[in-house]
Amino acid sequence: MLTKSRTRDHRKPSFIKYINPRAAVGTMFTAPITELIKKRTSWRTYNGEHLTEKDRKQLQEFIKSDHGTPFGSKPRFKIIDREAIGNLGTYGFIAGAKHFVAGTAQDTAMGVEDYGYALEKIILYATQLSLGTCWLGGTYNKQSFTDALDHTGAIPAITPIGYPKERRIAGRLIRWAAGARNRKPWSELFFKEDQSPLTNAEAGEYATALEMVRLAPSASNGQPWRIYLDGNRFHLHIKPRNGYGNMNRLDMGIAMSHFDLTLADQGIHGKWTNEPRKTLEELVYSSTWTRTS
Ligand SMILES: Cc1cc2nc3c(=O)[nH]c(=O)nc-3n(C[C@H](O)[C@H](O)[C@H](O)COP(=O)(O)O)c2cc1C
Repeated sequence: MLTKSRTRDHRKPSFIKYINPRAAVGTMFTAPITELIKKRTSWRTYNGEHLTEKDRKQLQEFIKSDHGTPFGSKPRFKIIDREAIGNLGTYGFIAGAKHFVAGTAQDTAMGVEDYGYALEKIILYATQLSLGTCWLGGTYNKQSFTDALDHTGAIPAITPIGYPKERRIAGRLIRWAAGARNRKPWSELFFKEDQSPLTNAEAGEYATALEMVRLAPSASNGQPWRIYLDGNRFHLHIKPRNGYGNMNRLDMGIAMSHFDLTLADQGIHGKWTNEPRKTLEELVYSSTWTRTS
């Protein structure tokens, strides 16, 4: 652990290292994306305080910037104050949150994935500001949130945003959560073209990015991502679950953001395309990443 942080201290300044050319917001990440991914955890109890002016301003700036989505659609987000919403409908799951981030996806073939990608970036940025978040896919009143937005459209998911209750305990819990994440092993998620499991060693320079996908949040922690390495390309598939429709697609967008941002930190860039293909298992095709530089 100590060795790791010492190494980090000697790396290039963040403004050089964390530029993601496809996303203007890449420059606003000052912490390594791997640290933010490990630090993030679903936070459901907040301390009831409003965002400070400084935090709100930074968050607002990030939300409004170009999120560089994989398929080029432009989801639009807004910080919504608790006071602006009548019936939250979060069914008691979320306590003490004074703000939410909600938005609309564009009605395009990959608009929901792009929304998942962009909201996860916002969530990672909020994590950098030491704010708590929690993806909420279904347990909120869609009408109340639609009314609070300045524009119309489908809201695929939202997140509360605020200060975790008892920061000291929160810090300890976050560290515990990062070490004890309940996630599927590599052998169930990542494969070679011949369908056999891809090992960490075989993944080589892509190993960290895949590990960051493994740590990603997903609806009901279902981890539907199944990824196949094919030369310098990765094919992303969904292991579908009944009744999870758009949630699966959000999960894939979240995976794309962890993959993309981690590789961008390593100076590796790629592009996303749709090239439907079949695998032996009954999986649904999502997208393909091809290395460009
Ligand atoms: C698309 C999506 C929808 C989710 N919806 C809910 C929800 O409605 N209510 C909730 O309490 N958690 C929800 N979660 C949070 C997951 O349960 C959580 O991410 C998962 O259990 C992993 O835990 P972690 O986020 O702490 O790593 C959702 C997560 C995602 C990605």
